[in-house]
Amino acid sequence: MLSILDHPLIQHKLTHMRDKDTSTRTFRELLREITLLMGYEITRNLPLTTVPTETPLETIDAPIIAGKKLVVVPVLRAGIGMSDGLLELVPSARVGHIGVYRDPDTHLPVEYLVRLPEVTDRTFILCDPMLATGNSAVHAVDVLKKRGVPDDQIIFVALVAAPEGVEVFQKAHPQVQVYVASLDRCLNEHAYILPGLGDAGDRLFGTK
Ligand code: URA
Repeated sequence: MLSILDHPLIQHKLTHMRDKDTSTRTFRELLREITLLMGYEITRNLPLTTVPTETPLETIDAPIIAGKKLVVVPVLRAGIGMSDGLLELVPSARVGHIGVYRDPDTHLPVEYLVRLPEVTDRTFILCDPMLATGNSAVHAVDVLKKRGVPDDQIIFVALVAAPEGVEVFQKAHPQVQVYVASLDRCLNEHAYILPGLGDAGDRLFGTK
């Protein structure tokens, strides 16, 4: 289940992120801003309940988000650039971390850290800007599922995806909802997305 969030503001900001001359500071700000906009759409279907609320004039049953606090889980390290935006939108969310790096030869994910809150009855938003081979994304969802999180309580959000990665992800986790801002053309021989925006982690943190 793939949704492309093609709001003009998201697309405009993404174009500036792709520009190789965009500074680290601006790249970081734009990622946070785009994630705020994407987060607004992603959270559209969260279930509501009501609480009796006294306004200065009368008492009403007013809507609030039902259930336990959401969990935002950045896939380290570039996912942190997105979790900042999501947490601005949902400040009371819990935060987990899944640390995965890509083996440079096999392009397969190597896990080095998992820290998650108690999972029962919570919705998880996994975030990682680049859905490239799909291997890290599949791995991150595997981690949640092994702890008992059902597919319909997992949302995966990326900025840019490659068709190859989306295919791998959908084969492994067909019932997990994926949101992206752009579905790009393809992967290159180093498993970078084309046209993409380069290495999201390096551009976000100013590393090489
Ligand atoms: N990771 C990145 O940061 N960029 C890509 O293009 C692919 C994976």
